[in-house]
Order: sequence, then structure tokens, then C-alpha cells
Amino acid sequence: MTQPVANAPFDAPIGIFDSGVGGLSVLRHIHAQLPHEHLLYFADSGFAPYGDRSEEWVIARSLAVVRFLFEQGAKALVVACNTATVAAIKAIRAEWPGMPIVGVEPGLKPGAAVSQSGKVGVLATDRTLRGEKLLQLRDQIAAATGAQFLLQPCIGLVDQIELGELGAEATVAMLEKYVVPLLEQGADTLVLGCTHYPFVEDAIRRIVATHASGPVTLVDTGDAVARQLARLLEGAGLLRPAGVAHLRGYTTADAAVLAAAFQGLLGLAPHVEAVEVA
Ligand code: DGL
Repeated sequence: MTQPVANAPFDAPIGIFDSGVGGLSVLRHIHAQLPHEHLLYFADSGFAPYGDRSEEWVIARSLAVVRFLFEQGAKALVVACNTATVAAIKAIRAEWPGMPIVGVEPGLKPGAAVSQSGKVGVLATDRTLRGEKLLQLRDQIAAATGAQFLLQPCIGLVDQIELGELGAEATVAMLEKYVVPLLEQGADTLVLGCTHYPFVEDAIRRIVATHASGPVTLVDTGDAVARQLARLLEGAGLLRPAGVAHLRGYTTADAAVLAAAFQGLLGLAPHVEAVEVA
């Protein structure tokens, strides 16, 4: 087990990881809510997408990436990937007990809370939607609220977003194929259950405007994840109260691609490094 190393514990960075650029949709909330925190962002783009892989593979890969982040001295971890959270958060918590660790999960509870029709579409990767953890959550919230969840795997969508093809014809066609049937079944709420998907929110809103018969709410949990992280850091006495914060990116693919994603998606220009993590 690797222990984090830091001189002043609250000065250590927060490690954030995703299979690729999707976790940047979570990082932007963390950056906004906790502007004094140093952030390390790890995009495992050389191995994305995770969503088509086996659960065992996602667990082993997630543990390797997390080990790398703690070796860089992270004081806390955000698993900014629904697929990795559903498959691996238990194993991660077991290997690093006591560390502040936050995962992301499709927002089924907030989705059920805002839905008027009681029909909630859930867009996520195939692996997320097959995960035991997600299915248990669905059953629990359905029993408590009477909501009906329409689970829609979005095969291929992560690849399009990794390529930066946010408004491309192929991406829009894919989104129509996944979103329109949910609207036709009466969903008035769409949960973005993959951290890549907020980056195609505009395209989803255009499809909704054309095909929905009434208002539709999109649910993204990035903001809530950042708030939970702030609570955990505060509870552990690890909040960095002031000072200029540094942001650093790591990728298992091309550093220029992650740098372009930071710039294009968030308008940020951190130092980005390509690394190998086995
Ligand atoms: N951003 C990841 C998620 O939230 C995408 C997973 C993948 O690589 O398939 O699920």
C-alpha cells in the first residue's frame, strides 16, 4: 500500500481521475468551488473507453491509476468516472482506508426528485448500467419514489467525445438514437450518468427542443460531487484556506490532446505530461 507524502497536509493536491477527458466536467466544479486547492487530473485516455471492458479489468486499472495519484502525494481522491466508481470504488476504499475518497454515480435520486412524469431516462456506459451497485440503487430509489428508470447505454459516445467531436453529425445522430426513444416513452428527466456527457449537453438540449412534448430536466452530479469533496476535506482538516493553486494534467495518451481538451472545454492551460501507468 502506498501512503501519500506531503509536508503540510492541507497543501497536498487532490487527485482526480477518469478514463479520459470526461472527468473535466467534474474538475470544473471542484476548481470553481475550491479555488485554492492544487489539483492533479489523470486522463487514462490511452485505455478509454472503460465502459466496454470487464468489471475485473476496470477494477485493476482503477487501482493502478489511484496508486499513481497517491504516489504523487494526493491528500484526497475523486473518482470522476461513473464506470470506475460503480465497478471499483469498494476496492479503492479497501486499499486506501481512511483517505478522503469521493466517487460519482448517476444521479438517480435527484432525477427521481425532479421528475413530474415519474419516468427518468439514464444515459450511461454499458458497464455502469450493468453494475450491481447501480442496479441496487435503481431498485432502492424506484421502491422509495415509484419512479421508473429507463436505462440507456450509449455505446460509442465516449469515443466521440474523446475525439472532441462534440457537435459532429455522427455524434448528433448517435445522441438522437439514444435520447429520442426515451422522450417517446415519456421521460421528462435525463440523467447524464457518464462524466463525458455534460460536454454534449448543448446537442442533447437541441434534440430535446425538437422532440420533447414538454420541459425536460438534465441532471449532472458534478456540482454535488464538488460539495461532497469540500465537506470531506473540511471534516478531515485538509481544506487549503488560501493561496494560488496549481493544476497539473497526466495522460496515458498524447499530452497535446489533453492540453487541447483543457483549453477547449474549460479554457485552462495547465502543465500536461504523458505518463505510463501499468
Ligand atoms: N467518463 C466515464 C464515466 O463517467 C466514461 C467511461 C468510459 O470510458 O467508458 O463513466
